Amino acid sequence: MNVLILGSGGREHAFAWKIAQSNLLTQLFIAPGNAGTLKFGINLDVNPNNFNDIKKVVLTYNIALVVVGPEEPLVLGIHDFFLKDEQLHKIAVIGPQQYAAQLEGSKEFAKEFMFRHNIPTAAYKSFTTSNLDEGYQFLETLQAPYVLKADGLAAGKGVLILNDLQDAKNELTEMLAHQKFGAASSKVVIEEFLDGIELSCFVLTDGKSYVNLPTAKDYKRIGEGDKGLNTGGMGAVSPVPFASEKLLKKIEETIIKPTIEGLQKDNIPYKGFIFFGIIKVDQEPMVIEYNCRMGDPETEVVIPLIESDFLELLIATGKNELHTKTIELKPESACTVMLVSGGYPEDYEKGKEILGLEKVEDSIAFHAGTTLKNEMVLTNGGRVIAVTSFGENYKEALKQSYKNIDKICFEGMNYRKDIGFDL
Ligand code: AMP
Ligand code: GLY
Repeated sequence: MNVLILGSGGREHAFAWKIAQSNLLTQLFIAPGNAGTLKFGINLDVNPNNFNDIKKVVLTYNIALVVVGPEEPLVLGIHDFFLKDEQLHKIAVIGPQQYAAQLEGSKEFAKEFMFRHNIPTAAYKSFTTSNLDEGYQFLETLQAPYVLKADGLAAGKGVLILNDLQDAKNELTEMLAHQKFGAASSKVVIEEFLDGIELSCFVLTDGKSYVNLPTAKDYKRIGEGDKGLNTGGMGAVSPVPFASEKLLKKIEETIIKPTIEGLQKDNIPYKGFIFFGIIKVDQEPMVIEYNCRMGDPETEVVIPLIESDFLELLIATGKNELHTKTIELKPESACTVMLVSGGYPEDYEKGKEILGLEKVEDSIAFHAGTTLKNEMVLTNGGRVIAVTSFGENYKEALKQSYKNIDKICFEGMNYRKDIGFDL
């Protein structure tokens, strides 16, 4: 079958790398893709948020299955667009419909879902400009630090954690009355601060059955020791070393199963990935957030640890037949280290030539933000290359990534040398 992947990052390169290994694949297309995905398929210069353009390429190239990488097209309703279209409705779309995508697209929706289905999460209340005063009063009842979340999608920047009550009140005003995050912060969820260690879990589900993918932990801050500004993610390890059998069983029983059952009880169809952002408070796992897609850079460590035919699992998801499949995982650990442009996550330049990629040995250089021009691979984003390696444990894997990173260079290249420092 012909498959189309939507997106242009390291996540989509990792999907392409894995799907290209399947005997079930005829031809792979990526829209828009990057210089790395070119090796596995044909890049199409189409914006994943432009559904009419996507429709044209799906029909032109006889696509039977679409994997949606980023959240935005899902929150904008790409799956619903396919279902409503006479020519597209039989094509499998991996990624939930608009209503279910609110698990990521609206913090309030996700909180209400979790409370309805008794899924452990922080206590919260939500506010708009009409009850701003109640928001100030609610903050006064809480202990520092204060957690303020823009309800809508804010490119990963919509969560503020403040130590001072007055700062929290000021930020609440900025978010609600002055639209600090645009329409995304016209509603704000204020929640109890949870103190613990974070990990992420992932499932692929057809809405009834699911398969567990390996756990992962990502490193979001730009600076070593988890200091400085937030990024899309500077590295990741999988599986998470502290995720014991006991903890995973608890997560499955108290979070994953109740989530899948909750979707069914609420009559919410769901075909795609669920990314559970989890925090372990004492010994109890609680949900920090849901995402309706895979993570980036988590995908660059999770997907390479899958032994099974990934396309076969995706096809089964599309047909509601996931209950007939099991997933086999590799016994190793994987890590990835992200090479980023100088200045990122603030202003940075693009178009720098990347040298040394052909020298990478026994690691995979997943392209996160690259483009091909006159046979040269150029930087084309803040996050540029994710260097993934395997090992008996995460430390061995990291050694291998850092060894290969020494062979790669581009002007301004930056990366964290301490991925896994806290494990
Ligand atoms: P989110 O966008 O919801 O994943 O939040 C971004 C980050 O903020 C999370 O990865 C956590 O590190 C932190 N965070 C979010 N909610 C809380 C909370 N209730 N308590 C403590 N930290 C939180
Ligand atoms: N790395 C975090 C995310 O993809 O949301």
